[in-house]
Amino acid sequence: MDSSGAMFFLFLSLVLAQPSSCFSSQVYIVYMGRANSDDPYDILKQNHQMLTAVHEGSMEEAQASHVYSYSNGFRGFAARLTEKQASEWLMPGVVSVFPNTKRTLHTTHSWDFLGLSTDASTEIPGFSTKNQENVIIGFIDTGIWPESPSFSDDGMPPVPPRWKGLCQGEEDPSFNFTCNKKIIGARYYLGGYEAEEKSGDDRTKADDKTIKFKSPRDSSGHGSHTASIAAGRYVANTNYKGLASGGARGGAPMARIAVYKACWDSGCYDADLLAAFEDAIKDGVDILSVSLGPDSPQGDYFSDSISIGSFHATSHGILVVSSAGNAGAPGSATNLAPWMLTVAASSTDRDFGSYILLGNGTSIMGESLNTFRMNTSRRTIPASEANAGYFTPYQSSFCLDSSLNRTKVKGKIIVCRHMDSTSESRLTKSLVVKKAGGVGMILIDESEDHVAVPFVIPASTVGKAMGDTILSYINSTRRARSTIFPARTILGSRAAPRVAAFSSRGPNSLTAEILKPDVAAPGLNILAAWSPAKNNMNFNILSGTSMSCPHVTGLAALVKAVYPSWSPTAIKSAIMTTATVLDKNRHAIVSDPDGRVANPFDYGSGFVDTNRLLNPGLIYDARSEDYKSFLCSIGYDDQSLQLVTGDKSICTRPVPTASNLNYPSITVPNVKKSHFVTRTLTNIGKAGSVYQAVVSPLKGINVTVIPNVLVFEGYGIKKNFTVTFTVAKPSRDYVFGSLSWKGKDTQVTSPLAVRVRVNGEGTI
Ligand SMILES: *[C@@H]1O[C@H](CO)[C@@H](O)[C@H](O)[C@H]1NC(C)=O
Ligand SMILES: *[C@@H]1O[C@H](CO)[C@@H](O)[C@H](O)[C@H]1NC(C)=O
Ligand SMILES: *[C@@H]1O[C@H](CO)[C@@H](O)[C@H](O)[C@H]1NC(C)=O
Ligand SMILES: *[C@@H]1O[C@H](CO)[C@@H](O)[C@H](O)[C@H]1NC(C)=O
Ligand SMILES: *[C@@H]1O[C@H](CO)[C@@H](O)[C@H](O)[C@H]1NC(C)=O
Ligand SMILES: *[C@@H]1O[C@H](CO)[C@@H](O)[C@H](O)[C@H]1NC(C)=O
Ligand SMILES: *[C@@H]1O[C@H](CO)[C@@H](O)[C@H](O)[C@H]1NC(C)=O
Repeated sequence: MDSSGAMFFLFLSLVLAQPSSCFSSQVYIVYMGRANSDDPYDILKQNHQMLTAVHEGSMEEAQASHVYSYSNGFRGFAARLTEKQASEWLMPGVVSVFPNTKRTLHTTHSWDFLGLSTDASTEIPGFSTKNQENVIIGFIDTGIWPESPSFSDDGMPPVPPRWKGLCQGEEDPSFNFTCNKKIIGARYYLGGYEAEEKSGDDRTKADDKTIKFKSPRDSSGHGSHTASIAAGRYVANTNYKGLASGGARGGAPMARIAVYKACWDSGCYDADLLAAFEDAIKDGVDILSVSLGPDSPQGDYFSDSISIGSFHATSHGILVVSSAGNAGAPGSATNLAPWMLTVAASSTDRDFGSYILLGNGTSIMGESLNTFRMNTSRRTIPASEANAGYFTPYQSSFCLDSSLNRTKVKGKIIVCRHMDSTSESRLTKSLVVKKAGGVGMILIDESEDHVAVPFVIPASTVGKAMGDTILSYINSTRRARSTIFPARTILGSRAAPRVAAFSSRGPNSLTAEILKPDVAAPGLNILAAWSPAKNNMNFNILSGTSMSCPHVTGLAALVKAVYPSWSPTAIKSAIMTTATVLDKNRHAIVSDPDGRVANPFDYGSGFVDTNRLLNPGLIYDARSEDYKSFLCSIGYDDQSLQLVTGDKSICTRPVPTASNLNYPSITVPNVKKSHFVTRTLTNIGKAGSVYQAVVSPLKGINVTVIPNVLVFEGYGIKKNFTVTFTVAKPSRDYVFGSLSWKGKDTQVTSPLAVRVRVNGEGTI
């Protein structure tokens, strides 16, 4: 075989890679930093030679083990290796070797579809966003349903000539995946998925079960949902079973969509994600929307495909917007790299209320997407009184599968409990009750996250306090009865936005100096396009940071439309520094489930403000050099830095602290007596504008800003300032405040998060 033949085989093997005979092997990613050579053939050849060496010279084994080669934007490959072979790859020239891990989509639960969104109005007075037809948004997700009216190309101008992407077709000829002037590119990535999930005999089985469309077509609905939130066309008269009816549209309805399907029914593998990032960089997208992430706690930046892909995308001028995750707990936020824009989830002012009328006349509002009508009241009992077989009353109270006794449940409304929003499905509990012959369910949900669920029988979710009232009513009478009413759309019943209970929280578990999440956007009960392949619905209601991420993607597309030359960090700065910490009634935004006042670990800089983000006046810009200094500050040496960046960069001495990255928020996790950070502001507003520093104080910490007045003589002028934190009264916990630079008509605000280092903790 000549060498060009070998290379051709390697390209084919992207899809055809056979698992090697060696059963203890798995797929690893060997990541070698930024690509220096522009010639992908060169890189492929090198990878291949290196692989052959690892396989003791066997060309066939090397070919069979190869899954992907990466050469656009970054270098490396994915291949099936034994643990020993993988460890041998940690050699000079290699940044990291990590297993092909599966990442998960950031919806609250794949079965708990939910409520309704009102996208904040995206008609922004005073700015023309017509140019959004030249903004290309890439979605790394589960694909798209191209026939959905949300992706119609009616009235759209020709595809921008700079676009280099392509449209992959379909293997099944009964479906035709075709692109249009709205969906201008579509690709799919199966190599990493098949290498992990298909082996030997169950190949065909895996095929039938999990790979519905071997094409960019969306079988799950998630990808169509996220793409339509960011960039869906206006569709009149959408609704979910009559709920939330009205028109639906994305944030930037004229922006172009490029689809990178790297996620399949069971999740998204690193090897496929990296291939998607590589193509998106090559194709020329402007923004990437990534509604998925690693499990918490996240590993090192350069052992995580999303961080790696985003790092190189950013250095090619692409803004990467991602979801913070749905783990809810402190420190659980993921997608932590400073070069990403990471989004938390909030509620909107719309809820789905389903009333429960108790037999004693008391009416209680619960939440549900239930549309069933119940004609009479029904006997109502706690599930703990209907335990079956070996299940204890306590176990049965959660309505687990098979835990209910048919004889006791038949014809009744069952009161079930739910504690954790991620491990069990609320929807499934309604199926369990239905299977046991129940006619309704009241779900007492202690996670109180206000996620509305499309239950399969009349059912409604209440919080713990209401749940106690219901249980005490049942306890007070011999024959308790209740009626559950169908859900209705209710506007303005609670303060909005609130931070959603499931939204993952800071601090940043990897680099405490970088605040994460960055901003919050609607992610609770969002109505958007869906794949009819799943549940035969064209629109659906979902919750998760998966849904808040594309809201910000859409807004970023509008900023890019108005300011095409802005860098990813400038767009990010504009969105962050104009965000608000007040709700629609101008009270402090609160956080579910407990209703306490939210802080920057809940929402970063705050809730996105569409009225202000196009006119920030000043921006915190960061360039490649700044990220290089950041990598030095978190411990990269010259050699590893050069691999990642692909140039001759060295760390300047002394190495700055990570707090000094020119980030739009300021976090100092370990102040001893006093600590200062520097920032640089760039004027993108009028010449001669004057800004004054205004600090909202931190408890027990004195803050000085020097200078506290900045005068920008012209457009593009940069000014430095320092912020000094001096400990007045130490406390163990983080304290929060903010720094605003106020000009005549514009203002930029950064949250401040500071923790005092207590004696004996941390290192010098
Ligand atoms: C695919 O294309 C053929 C020919 O253009 C057409 O007859 C058929 O209906 C299409 N199928 C779908 C699912 O759109
Ligand atoms: C309630 O009554 C309506 C109309 O009479 C009927 O269509 C529906 O099936 C009834 N629902 C139940 C749960 O019996
Ligand atoms: C269900 O309850 C009935 C009546 O109390 C009882 O006779 C039966 O054994 C129970 N069945 C199971 C599976 O627990
Ligand atoms: C029900 O009432 C009994 C006594 O009347 C009491 O011991 C029990 O705690 C009550 N249970 C609930 C859930 O209120
Ligand atoms: C019904 O029962 C609940 C629980 O005991 C109680 O809080 C409520 O006040 C009762 N309603 C009426 C109208 O008596
Ligand atoms: C502002 O800060 C940057 C980065 O820390 C530095 O390179 C630059 O020289 C500073 N400019 C002034 C005027 O001090
Ligand atoms: C902090 O500020 C207060 C009020 O200006 C001042 O009295 C105090 O001495 C300051 N503390 C420190 C440690 O600088």
